[in-house]
Amino acid sequence: MRQKLVAGNWKLNGSKASIEALVGGILAGMDGMNNVGVAVCAPYVYIPMTQGLLVGSKVGLGSQDIADQDSGAFTGEVSGPMLNEFGCGYAIVGHSERRALYGEKDEDTARKFAAARKHGLKPILCVGETLEEREGGITEQVVARQLDAVIALEGVEALVDGVIAYEPVWAIGTGKTASPQQAQDVHAFIRGKLAALNANVAEKVQILYGGSVKGANAAELFAMPDIDGGLIGGASLDAKEFLAICQAGN
Ligand code: G3P
Repeated sequence: MRQKLVAGNWKLNGSKASIEALVGGILAGMDGMNNVGVAVCAPYVYIPMTQGLLVGSKVGLGSQDIADQDSGAFTGEVSGPMLNEFGCGYAIVGHSERRALYGEKDEDTARKFAAARKHGLKPILCVGETLEEREGGITEQVVARQLDAVIALEGVEALVDGVIAYEPVWAIGTGKTASPQQAQDVHAFIRGKLAALNANVAEKVQILYGGSVKGANAAELFAMPDIDGGLIGGASLDAKEFLAICQAGN
């Protein structure tokens, strides 16, 4: 049985005061959350502070991106060894916002996956199609291409060191959630694709769903056989809502 994981992606949100209140609210509701993994992915600058707030808790910490290099002349980047120093266990890679707004290519994402893995961070590899791609009937093709870039660089076995997050772009921040069946279909496609290469990897890897998950729809999504939790944007900024989602995976 794969354990469920609920990870919050705070994106470009928060302040010292709001993060203190948010983490305080989350920690206050963690009693009894023994059967679900919980993590929060903070903006870089708030990672040290969030690490401090999470001390002694079972809530994991992650970054929203990672450099594909360890050090050197790469202005604006933050590397795996740096994230290690601040207690990060996860790094989101290939989020659709990085791909669409900052020109990140499949190969860049694959190198970031490799960098996270090399430094013992669990990469949360985001994949997913745009509305145009879904309507064009090429969802599986797009998701396969995004996965193949990582498999080509790191090998399929590497995927057990990470987590996959299926995030249909049309469902992100739109309030339009994929139906449990729509999400399940793509999750099953991903697991089937991996199974054809390595059955053990396919069985073990957690595949999260992301895209307008809320307390009210988490349980039905998480009940699907290939959905192993969620990557949560907007709803992760509200402690009560985020805890309701965690509880759905518990
Ligand atoms: O990474 C999480 C994500 O993109 C989903 O965002 O706001 O639709 O939950 P949201």
